[in-house]
Amino acid sequence: MITRRQYLKLALAAGVSLAIPGGMLKAEPRRGELITRAIPSTGERVPAVGLGSSATFAQVARSEDISALREVMGAMLEHGGTIFDTAPSYGDSEQVAGTLAQELGITDRVFWATKVNVAGRNGGRVDPGAARGQLEESFFHLGTDVIDLIQVHNMGDVPTQLGLLKELKEEGRVRYIGVTTTFPHQYPGLIEVMRREPIDFIGTDYAIDNREKENDILPLAQDRGIGVLVYAPFGRTRLWERVRGHDVPEWAAEFGARSWAQFFLKFVLAHPAITAATPATSRARHMIDNMGAAYGGLPDADALKRMVAHIESL
Ligand SMILES: NC(=O)c1ccc[n+]([C@@H]2O[C@H](COP(=O)([O-])OP(=O)(O)OC[C@H]3O[C@@H](n4cnc5c(N)ncnc54)[C@H](OP(=O)(O)O)[C@@H]3O)[C@@H](O)[C@H]2O)c1
Repeated sequence: MITRRQYLKLALAAGVSLAIPGGMLKAEPRRGELITRAIPSTGERVPAVGLGSSATFAQVARSEDISALREVMGAMLEHGGTIFDTAPSYGDSEQVAGTLAQELGITDRVFWATKVNVAGRNGGRVDPGAARGQLEESFFHLGTDVIDLIQVHNMGDVPTQLGLLKELKEEGRVRYIGVTTTFPHQYPGLIEVMRREPIDFIGTDYAIDNREKENDILPLAQDRGIGVLVYAPFGRTRLWERVRGHDVPEWAAEFGARSWAQFFLKFVLAHPAITAATPATSRARHMIDNMGAAYGGLPDADALKRMVAHIESL
């Protein structure tokens, strides 16, 4: 077993750059083309499934043995994914992922999406110096001079923190900027920011049993040309509890879903406003399963209705 501390120390000291070990991950046969989506503000295409890093990823990142996360990150890249969503508040996730990516030699291939928030969940004004310090730590942890996407986490002091992100974008140190929240009381504020600010992305929750955003936030994102990262596509544990003991219906194979994860992910990817979903996992086999949702077909309007009715019946 390699402890987290030993791992980070050795890796940083040696500046290692290892290839993803061949054969480490059993590849599922790929079905069709990788589904990619254009980021509305530039047209750059990104794979529609990535990896999130709160929840179980963060739990393992905090533990003594982080070797599973090396496999998870390797599996994402090996199976066509690039987007890694993290935040300074996800324990050691940002630092561990940055170090593992350097070890695997994939830092330049990952689409790094992190966040800034020194305001905390309850709002309040931010000290710009503290926010700048947190941003500089993200560059250090991720081991890169340019971060692909930085978002204001949970709508924390948007005027100050988004202002800092605009400056970083002007300087060419961040390519895309945005705002996130998964708290319903913050959705009206998110809508205001989407209407008013020149943001490239929002990050928010959307799932087969959490569809209210189809009425306002998702159409607005399409109108304003704002990309959407889907957070909590499984409702963390909510959907797993709902389908426990039930098999995936056979008709889901018509649009290529062979597991519940693929069923849930293909549901969210079928919405045209969605750029990518970033489910969190701490297991390589789940990462491979999730990447499977980014291959093959997507449900059409009839299939989407059938999927919702099926989940509501469980
Ligand atoms: N405000 C914000 O900015 C915000 C808020 C919420 C989330 N996020 C981002 O969105 C990411 C995703 O959301 P989330 O982590 O809350 O929840 P989620 O992705 O809906 O669910 C994660 C859970 O699903 C399990 N899982 C993943 N793949 C699986 C598979 N193929 N089969 C079975 N179980 C599977 C994971 O456990 P295993 O480890 O066992 O796979 C974990 O318990 C976060 O990690 C974070 O990066 C951002």
